[in-house]
Amino acid sequence: MRKRVRPTEHSDGENVSSSFRMQKKTTVCQEKKGLASKFWFWVKSGAFALCAIFIMMPILEELPEIIRQRVYYHRIRAPFVFDLSHPAELALNHTINMYLEPEEGISLGIWHTVPDGKWKEAQGKDSAWYHRSLKDGSPVIIYLHGRTQTRAAKHRIGVVNVLSSIGCHVLSMDYRGYGDSTGKPTEEVLTKDAVWLQRWAKEHSGGSRVLIWGHSLGSGVATNTAVRLMEQGVLVDGVILEGAFKNARGAEPQSYFYRYSWTIKRLILRDELGDMIFPNDENVKKMRNPLLFLHSEDDHLTTLRNAEQMYQAALSVQDDKRVRMVTFEGSLGYLHNGLYKDPRLPAIIKNFVVTTEEMS
Ligand SMILES: *[C@@H]1O[C@H](CO)[C@@H](O)[C@H](O)[C@H]1NC(C)=O
Repeated sequence: MRKRVRPTEHSDGENVSSSFRMQKKTTVCQEKKGLASKFWFWVKSGAFALCAIFIMMPILEELPEIIRQRVYYHRIRAPFVFDLSHPAELALNHTINMYLEPEEGISLGIWHTVPDGKWKEAQGKDSAWYHRSLKDGSPVIIYLHGRTQTRAAKHRIGVVNVLSSIGCHVLSMDYRGYGDSTGKPTEEVLTKDAVWLQRWAKEHSGGSRVLIWGHSLGSGVATNTAVRLMEQGVLVDGVILEGAFKNARGAEPQSYFYRYSWTIKRLILRDELGDMIFPNDENVKKMRNPLLFLHSEDDHLTTLRNAEQMYQAALSVQDDKRVRMVTFEGSLGYLHNGLYKDPRLPAIIKNFVVTTEEMS
């Protein structure tokens, strides 16, 4: 009440006697007060909006980058920051870290692991030794990893160790934007870089067989690469697809959670996913190189059913000597990443590598 009366007293110094006038004045004052509070409301809102815009600006600018991140997950690192330049500390003691430039201004972090029969000889050797050893006639396998993290992820090191144990060189690359590689990932540049690396490996190994291993997202890069090279008149010596998906749009994760999050993502990221296809299902019909599918029955991210469909599609254009599929029982619990743990894997891969040799 006091508040209401006070403005009346100050309004014009008049002695107010009529209760009617008093009432009226009070109303006027209330209106005035209402206007003032509206005024302050808008000032405050305006200031708030300005602050919000000011804070949001950098985020809005980053939006395309954030969306890209939600597609490729290239900025998601392991909880520990690995030193990618010291692979020996990560259980790869016959490995050297190198950087190659597929084009000016782009540097890709790559590990070169030599066949593990050479591990002792490799101790303390420099990059020139590693580079020379690439020409020793052993097959070379380019390892193209899946989404998230870097070439230092445990299951990736696991695969590299298996490949090295069967006498292969491994080139394990971090795509643009991943790990210590520069640039930004897109389907086109990932494919371009893998094509470039295949050609580099062919040239620097003196023509040894160069196979491509693609896991998950890497399976898409691998088949794109094989098709792109075919268009350039080069038949890849062999492709191994671990946990391959049908294509980036039609992927059907097995588990409910991943299917749900994938559906949401597809709705939100329509545009960004629009330029990401990785058409494995189409590519395998075009490919004419030896092809091995590896899939775990309990893979929760890429269904066995999709892999089987692609295997059948590949069989419709090539015979069963060139196209194979090995599945792993669900009871083993390998899921999407764990195939490297299987004691049969070295023999399976060795067998495939030998077959590709016979067929070439
Ligand atoms: C180095 O790696 C090889 C092959 O993986 C392994 O057999 C050997 O025990 C390792 N040596 C050391 C000292 O870690």
